[in-house]
Amino acid sequence: MTVDPINKSEIYFPSYSGSNESLLILLNRTSEIMCKWFSDSEKLGPIPIDNNFDCSVPDENGMSADVLFSEIENLIYSSFNPVHPGSLAHLDPPPLIISILGDLIAAGLNNNLLANELSPSISLLEESICNWFSQKLGFPKSAGGIAASGGTLSNLNALVAARNHSGLEADPMAVYLISEDAHSSFAKCTQIMGLGKNNLIKVKTDNNGCMDIIDLKKSIYKCSKEGKRIFSIVATLGTTIRGAIDPIERISKICKERNIWLHIDGSIGGIFSIINSPINGISNVNLANSITINPQKILGITKTSSILIVSNIEVLKNTFSTGLPYVSAENNVLNRGELGIQGSRPAEIIKLWLGLRFLGMQGIATVLNSSIERRIFFENNLNPEKYDLYSGPLHIITFLPKGMNKNETDEWTLNKRISLMSKNFMLSRPLFKNRYFLRAVMGNYNTGESHINDLLKLLN
Ligand SMILES: Cc1ncc(COP(=O)(O)O)c(C=O)c1O
Repeated sequence: MTVDPINKSEIYFPSYSGSNESLLILLNRTSEIMCKWFSDSEKLGPIPIDNNFDCSVPDENGMSADVLFSEIENLIYSSFNPVHPGSLAHLDPPPLIISILGDLIAAGLNNNLLANELSPSISLLEESICNWFSQKLGFPKSAGGIAASGGTLSNLNALVAARNHSGLEADPMAVYLISEDAHSSFAKCTQIMGLGKNNLIKVKTDNNGCMDIIDLKKSIYKCSKEGKRIFSIVATLGTTIRGAIDPIERISKICKERNIWLHIDGSIGGIFSIINSPINGISNVNLANSITINPQKILGITKTSSILIVSNIEVLKNTFSTGLPYVSAENNVLNRGELGIQGSRPAEIIKLWLGLRFLGMQGIATVLNSSIERRIFFENNLNPEKYDLYSGPLHIITFLPKGMNKNETDEWTLNKRISLMSKNFMLSRPLFKNRYFLRAVMGNYNTGESHINDLLKLLN
């Protein structure tokens, strides 16, 4: 018997009593297309050359499955392919297989992390995974956390909580400090918090791209002279362009002396703190009041996957709790939508949990350490007479040819990026301190030494 998968009465929603055979057929067909796309990536390259994606919109009667599947195929084959070994442009690694399943399960369950009664097991799972991270990072027993859809939102959750905790939530003189190399999304956080440009103080970085402690002290002094009140200092653990790590221990000392909330934006490098890594400056993150960890950026947990850990979970409760009057709160159960900005939330924690469980500590370390090894191999073999390198201890490497002026490097980076792309290597061209650079992000587990050697041949 053939089942018409688009017999709408059958497949609008899963059947509560039938066999759900139509759904199974659709899932299998989708999986086949997806897996074929993965397998085809070697010949297709990181991004499609002829992008002929035809963007269709809903019509009156709806579409048959056959039409939809041809459109799905067209969408997939017109997409950026993070699985290709030449995909080295951004913090977007290939998806961990088990985490693809996590997304499927989360969609099927369609639970809501807003409230315990809408996600009884997954709320517990989220709490447990956040507690596990707190413990791995060396945070105290009072710690806990909340997942959010990306690093920007985790940082925003932290900043709003820090400001609330300092009692400066309605103070127009409230400011926070970041380094000049911190992520551009802090400008958005500032706006969302109802603050202006003058409330975001940028501290200079040193030659290695790390927050300059002398300039930090000067900035703090200047703030106090101008009557500005600091509610947080943000240290970046892994800057976006150089992968630099701010001196957390020294910043923490300054914060402790002045009773200022230390937040670590560990969107890129924070995850390294849970493994036994020799990287300098990542073992003391428990000195902070909060830290953002963003496993989507390097571990391959599918987007989005980010968590915020705070040293005292009560601060999140006090900041964000509204009482959620339309949801029952039996037995004083905590509704986790009360711990952050987002209300309804997908069960993103499932894919993170599955990814961590599947890899185990050894697998996590293997994935993370391999990215550092790739960066070191690339760095050691890029012609030192030809290039200036700007790379920190993580997996990001940014470079420019020596001896060219700004106009020349702006043109060189443009042309080089295009020519590398034609050979199936996708690097990024970030604008940094008013100049374009080339940047390779070595978080792609499929990129082997032979691929890096091929890339080096095109550069050296
Ligand atoms: C250091 C840093 N912080 C924050 C973010 C923002 O994270 P997201 O894009 O997940 O919101 C990024 C993004 O690349 C980043 O590099």
